[in-house]
Amino acid sequence: MVKNSNEERDEKVFALYEQLVEIEQRLIPTGLHVFGRPSSAGEKTDLLKMIASFDRPEAGARAIPEELLDDAVRVFLENGIDAAVRLTGEASRPVFNLLETVCTKLQSNNEIDSLVRALRGEFIEPGPGADIIQNPDILPTGRNTHAINPYGVPSAAAFARSETVANSILERHKTENGRYPEAMALVLWGLDNIKTQGEGVAQALWLLGTRPVRDALNRTTSVEAIPLVELGRPRIDVVMTVSGIFRDLFSPTVQLLDKAVRLVAQLDEPLELNYVRKHVLQQVEQDRCELDDAAVRVFSNAPGNYGTNVNFMVMDSQWDREETLGDLFVTRKCFAYGRDSKGRAVEGREARLAMDRALSRVEATYQNIDTFEIGLTDVDHYFEYLGGVSKAVEKRAKARPAIYLSDSLSREVKIRSLEETVRLETRAKTLNPKWYEGMLKHGFRGVAEIENHVSNTFGWSATADAVDDWVYTEVANTFLFDERMLERLRDLNPHSAHSLAQRLLEANGRGYWEVDEGVLEKLREISNSLEDQLEGVV
Ligand code: BEZ
Ligand code: MG
Repeated sequence: MVKNSNEERDEKVFALYEQLVEIEQRLIPTGLHVFGRPSSAGEKTDLLKMIASFDRPEAGARAIPEELLDDAVRVFLENGIDAAVRLTGEASRPVFNLLETVCTKLQSNNEIDSLVRALRGEFIEPGPGADIIQNPDILPTGRNTHAINPYGVPSAAAFARSETVANSILERHKTENGRYPEAMALVLWGLDNIKTQGEGVAQALWLLGTRPVRDALNRTTSVEAIPLVELGRPRIDVVMTVSGIFRDLFSPTVQLLDKAVRLVAQLDEPLELNYVRKHVLQQVEQDRCELDDAAVRVFSNAPGNYGTNVNFMVMDSQWDREETLGDLFVTRKCFAYGRDSKGRAVEGREARLAMDRALSRVEATYQNIDTFEIGLTDVDHYFEYLGGVSKAVEKRAKARPAIYLSDSLSREVKIRSLEETVRLETRAKTLNPKWYEGMLKHGFRGVAEIENHVSNTFGWSATADAVDDWVYTEVANTFLFDERMLERLRDLNPHSAHSLAQRLLEANGRGYWEVDEGVLEKLREISNSLEDQLEGVV
């Protein structure tokens, strides 16, 4: 059907509207937590709204409809539960009961007291570790955060939720590339899988086309294959890089994931519907190796080691060619974990060739994001892991993979490309006055946070070329070329302001930001004058 220009225009306007709403509704932290300080009234109101905007089956509570949310929470805070229920209806009572509990627990802040007691060696009451929106039971804070039983992972809820996520990634890839990716590289972190009770793990199992099986003690110790007719698509080959923390906390889960890959590799199925088997057989043939070696898919650091160091290399500008970053990732992470076909444990055996081979087939990389508090540009760990593995794939597969992230916190499952996520984070956080003014209230530390965000954004240029030129241009305009803002940054933290200017110059120097010479000249001037200030010249 040929669309007339009015229809096309309407579609474009609607797409733009959707993007604006997405940015507007994005949850962002508007400041840092100050140890020992309870939430302010404003923070409390925002938090209650967020909590009330999600269904809570575990508390028998339904989300308050969006159009009533602001009024309902205001009335609740001013006049209590009954008044609020009169506004929203009796069905909302459970959610207000939950809000009341949350309010009471927010009032008390035992952090400093608990720290002092812990230092005295006294008993500290345990509490779950999670995202406050996902699990309000983390309150009150100041308790001894505990993880979860790894044998309970993935939980039934996490497994159920993950089917849609896995299918959405595959569908998006198929729409954009004409077919499913034969192999994907996934990043799995420990804390995230604690918070979500194993969403990342469940997504890996779904991509492989397997489901967890519980033993007589209700422990998840095995997996079974979902029949192809039920699955309705090929089994995807999944290369997993798990963090050192995941390896330590989720040892039974590492075994489970390895078991799932080996199970799938041995199924007697057509190769075009079982990419794990296809690739394992190819590799046995090509390298004349054992099936055991060709089926290694769970990688982590050497025992006792953590992290990829890609972040340190980027932050210190200690690299020449981008491929060095991907090679460093593999050097740090090429240690295999699992169990061979004779049942012998493999615990951190160096397997560089196996990892190189596995990554050489990868067409898409992916990581689950489960919280609004920590995103792609808040910490350097996302680019060291997802960026690092993507750069390693690029060299080994001789093509840049598609890079995806999910947003398991939003009500509907949303799969975004890395580029889309960087744009969204930039608009919702780094360039958003609500965010940076929140940070600047923290003075010296706040400026450091702004500089960190820009450096982490730069990390996505270095590892994945995923940052548009306008991002750097707007960072320069907002923080350095606005005289009043530059003055504030200079007063609060000239070190970070100087690093920010230097990072922008580096972005240009390395070819990530094309900009006029006039702009660079201005940046150099600002950088030099900050340097003079730091050296005490002015
Ligand atoms: C983890 O929870 O596995 C993790 C935490 C921080 C950085 C990287 C990984
Ligand atoms: Mg570019």
